[in-house]
Amino acid sequence: MKRVFVNGYGSIGSRISSFLRDDPEITLVGVGKYSPDERINSIKSKGLDVYVPEGRLDEFAEYDIAGSIESALDSCDLVIDASPGRCGYKNKKSLYEPRNIKAIYQGGESVTGSEAVSEILFNSGSNYDSVIGKKHVMQGSCNVTGMGRILEPMRVAFGDRLIRFDVTLVRRWADIEQTDKQVIDTIEMTENPHHGDDVKTYLGEDTPLYVRAVKVPTRQMHLHILDARFSQQAPRPSEIHALYANNPGVAVLWTAKGTQDVREFARTMGFHFTDTNMIHIHANMTASIGDTVQMMYSDDQTGIVIPENHMLMQAMLFERQYRDARAHTESVFGMDAKKQKLEKFFAKS
Ligand SMILES: NC(=O)c1ccc[n+]([C@@H]2O[C@H](COP(=O)([O-])OP(=O)(O)OC[C@H]3O[C@@H](n4cnc5c(N)ncnc54)[C@H](OP(=O)(O)O)[C@@H]3O)[C@@H](O)[C@H]2O)c1
Repeated sequence: MKRVFVNGYGSIGSRISSFLRDDPEITLVGVGKYSPDERINSIKSKGLDVYVPEGRLDEFAEYDIAGSIESALDSCDLVIDASPGRCGYKNKKSLYEPRNIKAIYQGGESVTGSEAVSEILFNSGSNYDSVIGKKHVMQGSCNVTGMGRILEPMRVAFGDRLIRFDVTLVRRWADIEQTDKQVIDTIEMTENPHHGDDVKTYLGEDTPLYVRAVKVPTRQMHLHILDARFSQQAPRPSEIHALYANNPGVAVLWTAKGTQDVREFARTMGFHFTDTNMIHIHANMTASIGDTVQMMYSDDQTGIVIPENHMLMQAMLFERQYRDARAHTESVFGMDAKKQKLEKFFAKS
């Protein structure tokens, strides 16, 4: 059994903790909390141990705390950092490197510049083998993970025929659980979005990818609007959809009117955290016009990176081959069954 600690218990950390408990190969040591609030009691009621910063134990005196984050890390094989963006780098320097433990970081960090947490940005479909046995690796953010999941199979299938990808990211404002975060009635434009550069770290610097981003007042997923340009006549929509037929991380849906429909289905089916953990191609929106394929796909913002963390953890901790890791992740997340249910419910009428 390997011992894993989750540092941070927000949208991402709570989901990661949940899958670790479903994994018979892992002992979840506990989770790190930084605010002395009621959430500690709800975490405790799930049977999880809560650890807090050593120097702030007094602030948590009224709660049932198992000990300090520092002591929990001393007994770990790996930590999954789920802290707010840019905190992961500070934790790496102050907590993980001094203890020489393996660490996974989330999408709010960076792999470039003076505060890079790792050299590699992980995407299981593109660079799984390169993270086997590595010590510090960053998981791509939800949009970065989603773009790779769609673009990589197209690249493999069409190679040099593909000459340009233009993606407009329509990003959600807040997560479902972030009830204290106000959803503001505006469409906000994002200058110099990082997502394209992040994707190029694993698809290659010369990938002809151009990304624009806006943020809209919804909690229900991201939507990517993709134009893929070809050197000659573009493939038919059916040829594009067929690329994802055996990919458990991509569902091809025909009748979802919007992202809320997909989330609502996940809720009624009792999917954990109402996550689908995948990309949904809105197949009724795919068109092939001359040299261009137009597509829209939605990206389960919080859910999509959770099975990716699981794949990454297996590569770093167990040095497992891709096929075995994929099978184990499937046994924990049941992605294939979720995909079948989604595709059946939203089938062509
Ligand atoms: N939300 C998404 O859809 C999404 C998707 C992909 C990637 N990500 C990335 O995942 C990371 C976490 O995002 P999130 O949405 O889960 O954030 P979040 O909901 O705001 O949660 C962050 C958690 O980190 C804890 N925390 C505060 N200071 C910390 C520290 N110094 N070290 C460790 N933990 C600390 C907070 O604890 P307290 O509550 O106790 O203060 C809070 O529970 C970010 O890098 C983000 O970019 C997010």
